[in-house]
Amino acid sequence: MWLLVFLVILVVGLPVQGQLRNGFYAFPCPQAEAIVRSTVEAHFQKDPTIAAGLLRLHFHDCFVQGCDGSVLITGSSAERNALPNQGLRGFEVIDDAKSLLEASCPGVVSCADILALAARDAVDLSDGPSWAVPTGRKDGRVSSSSQASNLPSPLDSIATQKQKFAAKGLDDHDLVTLVGAHTIGQTDCIFFRYRLYNFTTTGNADPTINQSFLRQLQALCPQNGDGSKRVALDKDSQTKFDASFFKNVRDGNGVLESDQRLWDDASTRNIVQNYAGDIRGLLGFRFDFDFSKAMIKMSSIEVKTGSDGDIRKEAETSMHLFFQCPVSSRVWYLSQLRVHGAFALLTWSIWLARNDHIFRNGNVDENQIIASDYRLWINESLEAQDVPVLLEKPTVMHKWTPPSG
Ligand code: HEM
Repeated sequence: MWLLVFLVILVVGLPVQGQLRNGFYAFPCPQAEAIVRSTVEAHFQKDPTIAAGLLRLHFHDCFVQGCDGSVLITGSSAERNALPNQGLRGFEVIDDAKSLLEASCPGVVSCADILALAARDAVDLSDGPSWAVPTGRKDGRVSSSSQASNLPSPLDSIATQKQKFAAKGLDDHDLVTLVGAHTIGQTDCIFFRYRLYNFTTTGNADPTINQSFLRQLQALCPQNGDGSKRVALDKDSQTKFDASFFKNVRDGNGVLESDQRLWDDASTRNIVQNYAGDIRGLLGFRFDFDFSKAMIKMSSIEVKTGSDGDIRKEAETSMHLFFQCPVSSRVWYLSQLRVHGAFALLTWSIWLARNDHIFRNGNVDENQIIASDYRLWINESLEAQDVPVLLEKPTVMHKWTPPSG
């Protein structure tokens, strides 16, 4: 009885955001948030710039039919293939977390929640704030590239930026605060190079760019240079989540045109100025605090709950089942069979021959299978880093890509 009362108090007492709530996975999968955290950490240790990729991934998910994991769906007409999504990064982090979660709590944790949790952990690991993420999102079933036009463009005027955010229930204050995410990460030259050359009718650069910063940007992105060269969005601290982005905007050191435009409009300039001020906390405009609040708001855009969505399953392939999933990978490791790489490849060769026979009417020739196995073994040993991975203790899985053929 007391246990029941305790559970009711606990559940009722948890903060709620719409139909989401903090600690949603506490009972069905208590280790869910820790698994996401350790996965993000493992990737972050190898590449701290991945934090920016994860934060942007969540933003792009939320702005197109809500925070429903639809940005992860693959396919030629899927959202992921839309032009504004071309530079998105961090998909492998979400895949790894999903694999580990499916091994621990199958069918419980949505991809949409993993994206929201990973974005929070990415900011925290970059020395930014942390916050409790209300969870309980379901995954959407559809993904359409045409809907990605909702996403803001770096060429958008301030009025368009405000209107695109308002359409998602975010006000001007949220807009400025959330764009502060550009305190970490990078952009391709192609997204701002037009500001550096022939921007005005008289052939000059965008006059709102600080002159010494202009020379730096021109050196990084020559007029006819490689448009895909990456440049920091925050010139001083691209892996540290701090308020320096706003100082950049104030001083004419914003990289994207849309960022610099935040200084042109009286209402957005006021907010930038407060965040850029040396006295943090003035008038309640504390960036870290506000950013956490704005992220919780953004993470709740048009979420799907109940029967509106699913808990997406991992694509189950034979390769995944036998080699990639964390459980089978650990089994290979724990078996201590030093020949298991060869054994695994022979199993794989038999599987390929079987598929060839069933689906393409191919002949089954045992010598061919062995020859193909030797070829795979030599190729994998010489070229791929993946086979030796099986000899190390797997933590977060480095995926073993299927041998071709
Ligand atoms: C007016 C709104 C916004 C515009 C026009 C905009 C535009 C862009 C562009 C053009 C890039 C560079 C992409 C590339 O070269 O690959 C970028 C990067 C980035 N954006 Fe935004 N963005 C906006 C708002 C946001 C918001 C709300 C967030 C998150 C809350 C965000 C997070 C990021 C991050 C972290 C990066 C760096 C990504 C990386 O290093 O891979 N952006 N953004």
